[in-house]
Amino acid sequence: MAPSIAIRGAAQLLRPPADGLPYLRHDRAAELTLAPGDLTLRAGAIAALADDGGDADVAIDARGCAVLPGFVDAHTHLPFADWRAREYEQKVTGVGYEQIAREGGGIRSSARAFARANDDAVLDQARALAAEMLAWGTTAFECKSGYGLSRAAELRALRLAAALGDAVPQQTVSTALLAHALPDGFDADGWLDVVAELVPEALAQSPGVRALDVYVESIAFTNDHLRRVGALAARHGLDLRCHVEQFATHRSVPVALELGARSVDHLACIDPADVAPLAAAECAAVLLPGAEFLGDEHVAPARALIDAGAIVVVATDANPGTSPVVALPIVLGLAVRRYGLTAREALLAATLNAAWTIGRSAELGSIEAGKRADLIVLDGPVEQLAYRFGHNPVAAVICGGELVHV
Ligand code: NIG
Ligand code: FE
Repeated sequence: MAPSIAIRGAAQLLRPPADGLPYLRHDRAAELTLAPGDLTLRAGAIAALADDGGDADVAIDARGCAVLPGFVDAHTHLPFADWRAREYEQKVTGVGYEQIAREGGGIRSSARAFARANDDAVLDQARALAAEMLAWGTTAFECKSGYGLSRAAELRALRLAAALGDAVPQQTVSTALLAHALPDGFDADGWLDVVAELVPEALAQSPGVRALDVYVESIAFTNDHLRRVGALAARHGLDLRCHVEQFATHRSVPVALELGARSVDHLACIDPADVAPLAAAECAAVLLPGAEFLGDEHVAPARALIDAGAIVVVATDANPGTSPVVALPIVLGLAVRRYGLTAREALLAATLNAAWTIGRSAELGSIEAGKRADLIVLDGPVEQLAYRFGHNPVAAVICGGELVHV
């Protein structure tokens, strides 16, 4: 049983404007409060937003510190095998992502690495990354398949994602990214015929899968394929998520909204006409500034999305190609700088709204009595988080009521 923990004297405790909100539209981010406070945690849950006066097994002196919900990373590509550092050098010296992919690099090169690595090697690498994420304050994250590129290897990726979830302190959810790149020997429609058979098999083997994902791009799939994946998700009661408008504008957002997508991710090249409909929809706009900065230089219109009231999320997109970064504070620092976000806007994007995107905001993503005791204590006020770029501000991490990192 998790110990009882008293957190006393926090200078800033982040709270939503009302309890029980599944998400908070970003034009209301200023309503988050950052007031001094105490907390009591018992049996792995938040027991009271006060020092309840009972005996505590552990007391944390949080004077001068911010206490936040643990970060939720709503878009990662864990587990994957190896890295692609050589491609990064090609990229920064002028070779495009699409050209690298067409020459056999990119996603397909990570698929070859995934095939070469045995299960232990994949899990060892992913566990080490999850430990790094925890030290930077991430207490829940999404995993994706997508580096399998064959029927058996995608099933293996989903099994390894579930095994990763069992092996780490964080909460995880799995997304089946079954339309990521075109496997050898298939055209896109032929591969999607296989995907249609694969989904029930994947759900039977890995019941933790809660979403389907698809990559719409000139080197990958089209809006018609997005429709097919959306229909499959609906048929199996799964959320639809999609990689869209990353390197070029394909007008995938209206299609995704029609399909009732849970999220549209990347959006660096979203058509300006699609911002208002997205902001009005119950669909998260997942922004991935690491992939913009390290992959390409289009900038998602975050300010317009926020001002229009979208459900905005910022995530790492941790993957070996476009964003080999697992530290959410660094990615939030990039988001603040590139997009012009306030501290509250950045925090909302990596906590409550991120938890809603992965379907877990009833238990994660905010400091409310009854929610899981996933909390972080910063070494100073929240304003320092983005400002001291590259510094890890996370002084302590409580995950599921256990003090896992100090
Ligand atoms: O989110 N663009 C598609 N998928 C990943 C990149 C995957 C890779 O390059 O390995 C992304 O950017
Ligand atoms: Fe991604």
